[in-house]
Amino acid sequence: MRTLTGIQPTGALHLGNYVGAMRPAIEAQARGECFYFIADYHSMTALFDARERRAHTLGVALDWLACGLDPLRSVFWRQSDVPEVAELAWILGTLTPMGLLERAHSYKDKLAKGIAPNFGLFAYPVLMAADILLYDTHAVPVGQDQKQHLEMTRDIALKFNQTYGETFVVPEAEIRADLALVPGLDGQKMSKSYGNTLEIFADEKVLRKKIMSIVMDSRTPQEPKPDADRNLAIRLLKLVAPAAVAAEFEQRLRAGGLGYGDLKKALFEHYSSHFSAARARRADLAADPGYLAAVLRDGAERARSVASVVIKRARAACGL
Ligand code: TRP
Repeated sequence: MRTLTGIQPTGALHLGNYVGAMRPAIEAQARGECFYFIADYHSMTALFDARERRAHTLGVALDWLACGLDPLRSVFWRQSDVPEVAELAWILGTLTPMGLLERAHSYKDKLAKGIAPNFGLFAYPVLMAADILLYDTHAVPVGQDQKQHLEMTRDIALKFNQTYGETFVVPEAEIRADLALVPGLDGQKMSKSYGNTLEIFADEKVLRKKIMSIVMDSRTPQEPKPDADRNLAIRLLKLVAPAAVAAEFEQRLRAGGLGYGDLKKALFEHYSSHFSAARARRADLAADPGYLAAVLRDGAERARSVASVVIKRARAACGL
């Protein structure tokens, strides 16, 4: 059973990414074979600065290693280090109906946002199908927003198998619906596009300032607060503090007597200590670029040993 997922190299990791995607992926390493790659080809559909792409790619690799991705246990590589995926995307594209791509929500959303579409953006789901099919993937853990992309991957795999004979494993999506919704600093879903994020590896001063400036209501500290479970700092505290500690703060807030300033201070302390080991590890890794390069090189080699078998099978099936 092989699990695979792609990681977008998009800027600084925040608590929403961590809880929603990274932590479950890291925990999955204990259960089976994991293939994780950094989707730098995909980033080309919307980012046109080479230095930024390189920096984000290496940055996101450091983030994952610092937070517990184990490169000995899992296969971890940069998408573009296995360019066979681009060949497979071409092959799959020839079997992908235009109508299927035209119905893609993510494409339509991007058009609606006013992004000038390029062919790569339109073909994004085909490259994603290639990512998955090139590695004989069984399971793909993704958020709800990627569900349609996974259905497209399955459609494309079935179409290929029907047209050219059994070639690809048809993967299953593992939609993570049970995860805690991570609120941002303004109470909406935490998202880079809302500008309400709490980064994992930002400077501590910046984090403290962000946490201390969370807006609360004007009730006095003494007033009991029966809605304590909906308080933003309590909700965030539950994600980073031991359950018993978070429950105690919630109780104190509900009873009255706990000021918002003290609550936010506690949130900062717990946030900071929750990630302190990962921060130290990231600093060590960043100081040794040779190690990171070696990890990615080794990952690419292991990924390629699977990819080269599958691409050969696909080429043979379609008469290339
Ligand atoms: N589109 C995914 C996202 O935005 C990233 C991705 C690229 C991916 N290729 C993939 C995810 C293959 C799973 C499998 O998060």
